[in-house]
Amino acid sequence: MRAVAPGRVNLIGDHTDYTGGLVFPMAIDRFTTIEFERSHEPLIRLRSHDEPNEAIVQLPSSGEGRGWARYIAAVARECDSKNGITGEISTTIPIGSGLSSSAALEVATLLALGFTGSASELAQTARRAEHRATGVPTGIMDQLCIASAREGHAMLIDCASLAIEHVALPPETRVIVQFIANRTLEGSQYSQRVQQCAVAENLIGALRLANPESLEKINDPTIRARARHVITENQRVREFLRALRQNDLHGAGRLMKQSHESLAVDYEVSTSVMNEAVAKLQKTPGVFGARMTGGGFGGCVVALCESGAKVDGWRVSAARAAHLA
Ligand code: GLA
Repeated sequence: MRAVAPGRVNLIGDHTDYTGGLVFPMAIDRFTTIEFERSHEPLIRLRSHDEPNEAIVQLPSSGEGRGWARYIAAVARECDSKNGITGEISTTIPIGSGLSSSAALEVATLLALGFTGSASELAQTARRAEHRATGVPTGIMDQLCIASAREGHAMLIDCASLAIEHVALPPETRVIVQFIANRTLEGSQYSQRVQQCAVAENLIGALRLANPESLEKINDPTIRARARHVITENQRVREFLRALRQNDLHGAGRLMKQSHESLAVDYEVSTSVMNEAVAKLQKTPGVFGARMTGGGFGGCVVALCESGAKVDGWRVSAARAAHLA
């Protein structure tokens, strides 16, 4: 059998998911695949084309493992897997590039282990495994996108209710991804940003419900800037959806540009190399807009372009959700 899980790229709405905000990702046609056989032995044994060591997890899993095996151990623990599998993993998602290679691994492993819950349960279990494996308090966007995407569509996710709206991308557009630098959120300032949002929420209430006027109540300039990013980014996601619906692609592109500036200046999760790449893309003919995508501190940038535009990078298409084949 095969479990297949796509990577994802986020078109707009970054660092909003862990405060229950809005995000607008799409699954991409780059995949992690596990070829496996189920066994009744209480053992998971997986080889990876990208890793020298096998992942071997005795069941019931303690949740702990070394290197990439820690993801497998964490997943097995979170779904309380009783039945083992033997198999081989390969991926076309560049690992550690901010395209959710780890979320794809978690979701594919859950499917291979026989997880039978809803897409939302699949995503929430995978997210708990990510937290267990890395200790980084990431949001739900990556796993939920991978678990529920629809081919040809991006998706609006309300990360408070987990409601999803699938949105067809206009046929005259292309999405291009440029790889900038490998990164890991472990040891990055990601967790600090999550804490800073919690501080802001203690002062002005849930950021997803707050309006820009309430920012005046925050004295600390850093916390105010972080909150300003989240509040305005949620607004931009709503406006981006409206712009796409009206086929106002230049308007959608302007919002991507503003999103990048907000992530770079107010949220401070971009890098100078990412800023340069985004600036260059924004000047390229046929590009409606470009921005960093995902957690930042490296990773990738994404551009929304005219179909005929000559733009360096990978053209990605909106893929379907993770599934067994
Ligand atoms: C990473 C996390 C997501 C999200 C993004 C930023 O990809 O895994 O939950 O917070 O960063 O939008």
